[in-house]
Amino acid sequence: RHAFPTLVAIDGPAGSGKSSVSRAVARKLGFAYLDTGAAYRALAWAMQHRKVDTSDVDAVIAELADFDYSIGTDPDASAVTVGESDVTEAIREPAVSAAVSAVARIPEVRTHLTELFRSIARDVDRPGIVVEGRDITTIVAPEAEVRILLTASQEARMGRRSAELPTESADTVAEALRSRDRADSQVVDFMSAADGVTTVDSTHLDFEQTVDAVIEVINTRTARN
Ligand code: DC
Repeated sequence: RHAFPTLVAIDGPAGSGKSSVSRAVARKLGFAYLDTGAAYRALAWAMQHRKVDTSDVDAVIAELADFDYSIGTDPDASAVTVGESDVTEAIREPAVSAAVSAVARIPEVRTHLTELFRSIARDVDRPGIVVEGRDITTIVAPEAEVRILLTASQEARMGRRSAELPTESADTVAEALRSRDRADSQVVDFMSAADGVTTVDSTHLDFEQTVDAVIEVINTRTARN
């Protein structure tokens, strides 16, 4: 166990490349990796699986205590399970994406998951951990050594999402992204950088260039301390 693992907090909107970039950065640095969006997705999946109406706030809160979820923090083995079910793939389905904002909006849900993320980050057995989501730089780990907002133009984000979902039409993807931006931005402001947060704009960068840009920020930040 490392006495002071480096905490790298990365926030950004859907389609910014946040998850794949964060995972690649963690892999390159030998760090652990935590996708917090996957936990919100797993919770939405669990509610759907148990036929809980996600618009019923009290019902969702009542189920929280029984939410038995785990996630691997190895960037090469980050399977997500709920109870006995491996939901790694299922949580990426459009039905879950559409339901997740309703769950993420509930303050009790956010407090519960925030505590979980902090305890995972504390227990890390690598020299550092990359934690990515929407409120990592501001709420989950505002004290993180490295805090990054990864952005991209809406057009670039739509193009990337379309490439990820080849079976969906471009219009469907664009509308889903727009409606999720709308819903997500009611929960937390992830479009503008908080004080002390470094913005990396990936609109005109390819994947490798974005990974390198993030690593450069990490190197600069950790060298200064
Ligand atoms: O990054 P993602 O698309 O997998 O996120 C899934 C949902 O979870 C998204 O609608 C926003 C929400 N989320 C959040 O509210 N806070 C986080 N730290 C991470 C995700």
